Amino acid sequence: MSRDLLELKSLSVQEIQAILSQAQAFADGEKCTDFTGRIAVNMFFEPSTRTQYSFNVAEENLGLRVISFNPAGSSLQKDESFYDTVKTFDSFGVDVIVIRHSENEYYKQLLGHISAPLLNGGDGTGNHPTQSLLDLLTIKQEFGSFEGLRAAIIGDIRHSRVAHTNFEVMQRLGMEVCTSGPEEYREEGMNYKPFSEALRESDIIMLLRVQHERHASAMQLSKEEYHRLYGLSADKLELMKPKAIIMHPAPFNRGVEIAEDVVECDRSRIFKQMKNGVFVRMAVIKRALGDL
Ligand code: CP
Repeated sequence: MSRDLLELKSLSVQEIQAILSQAQAFADGEKCTDFTGRIAVNMFFEPSTRTQYSFNVAEENLGLRVISFNPAGSSLQKDESFYDTVKTFDSFGVDVIVIRHSENEYYKQLLGHISAPLLNGGDGTGNHPTQSLLDLLTIKQEFGSFEGLRAAIIGDIRHSRVAHTNFEVMQRLGMEVCTSGPEEYREEGMNYKPFSEALRESDIIMLLRVQHERHASAMQLSKEEYHRLYGLSADKLELMKPKAIIMHPAPFNRGVEIAEDVVECDRSRIFKQMKNGVFVRMAVIKRALGDL
């Protein structure tokens, strides 16, 4: 079995459930495996708060030493390539490498060329496996299982690695998934539904940020129009099913896709998702180091 974690679609349902069980055990207080003496390097070529620093916390919880690679202060500035930069850390003998990069499937050029297991912290608009795993853990804690649940992913679908990863894995776990949001960000084949219908029918409302940094041109809607048409405001909560929850991978833009007073309302699991990110990342590091 590969110790890499690049795309969830490469993992069986059984493997996904094993990671979630281990993450839940960590959440329940299971004593951490002690990987003292091992080294992790976190290489974030794109900005990140949650993924980068929760990997950092997870690695330290497991006893690893952590190197936080800083692209701006590295020899990338002297035209060293991405490939040679990663190869350099691999040749130092690090035990696990975490990478986020703006290029889809950046990892393909590394496969077979590095020894350390590689954990994908997000590639372009492609995959965000640890985000989906923490989303799944949050859903499992809430509902107990996945079969028959309905999720609506709402927002900038086309540019979202979270949408792409969750759309695939949630259906494989027996969930029904629809997407909604502005026409300019819709994607063919992703079961589009009008916003109010998606809100009424779903057990999980997953909101997404508009990913301006991936757009070739400015959004057609103003932020105010976006909020009016597709933002989750307090009055729209009444459309939701009684036990439906709100999720968001964050960072979120208060007053655009989510109203200020909805971020921390009773239905919101946004900060619980972030907490679960540490447990999930502990589980995937444990797996990468051959102990799961
Ligand atoms: N959800 C997520 O990936 O957040 P960051 O970009 O802050 O890591």
